[in-house]
Amino acid sequence: MATIAVYSVKGGVGKTTFAVNLAWCAAQISRRRTLLWDLDASNGSGFLLGVDPRKKRTADTVFAAERGPDKLIQRTAYPTLDLLPADESIRTIGRQLDAIGKKKRLAKLVETLSRDYERILFDCPPVLNELSTQVMRAADLVIVPLPPSPLSARAFDLVVDEVRGSGKGHPPILPVLSMLDMRRALHKQAREANGNWPVVPLASAIEQCAVERKPVGAFAPRSAAARAFAHLWAAIERKLAEK
Ligand SMILES: Nc1ncnc2c1ncn2[C@@H]1O[C@H](COP(=O)(O)OP(=O)(O)OP(=O)(O)O)[C@@H](O)[C@H]1O
Ligand SMILES: [Mg+2]
Repeated sequence: MATIAVYSVKGGVGKTTFAVNLAWCAAQISRRRTLLWDLDASNGSGFLLGVDPRKKRTADTVFAAERGPDKLIQRTAYPTLDLLPADESIRTIGRQLDAIGKKKRLAKLVETLSRDYERILFDCPPVLNELSTQVMRAADLVIVPLPPSPLSARAFDLVVDEVRGSGKGHPPILPVLSMLDMRRALHKQAREANGNWPVVPLASAIEQCAVERKPVGAFAPRSAAARAFAHLWAAIERKLAEK
């Protein structure tokens, strides 16, 4: 079992897009039993997977140990991909975890879930709090989407510092250039400066995910965008195998 967090303190960099598409690759390409755990109150992952939210706001109850996570998990259209959805109730969970002082809450939940899943991916909100600290502690690998700019490497170093700050032995961190458009001079420059970072291109097929409410591999499998996610997923599996 391996846990992969998609994280950055910056908003709108492609975290949810990555989490949904990579979870789909894990389930549909690698045929892993996969859980996508949405930790962002806006429930973007659920939306992109075409899973409609429940009426009751219950996402926080999984942390309160009131119910096992299995009661909250929803099936998706893809046989080996399940979703642990988020809703507004999760917005204050970082503070609540801090207050109750349960530092291993998330790790324990992951342990329980590892009986049923081979890959767990976290779609994180762009915040730094007790919840993100616990995610970093439970993650085997952290994926950081970075919009291309001459300052990408610096932005990445800042995230590394943040992750490092969340505990002693932090997990390996993989930077990925997100929304790369090689027609733009600054993007080209960022690509050249970070030649060994994986890339996800700026693509209308990726924007289309929100219209189709499907991962790009499910409706445009031959697109450059779908190939980029498949390629990135293969790199992630290789990195996990090194551990
Ligand atoms: N490679 C891409 N090509 C085109 N559009 C993209 C790409 N990646 C993301 N987007 C678009 O950028 C917007 C932000 O993406 P996304 O929601 O994945 O970011 P996020 O980091 O999860 O944001 P937040 O911090 O608000 O949770 C979305 O409208 C998404 O469709
Ligand atoms: Mg998001």
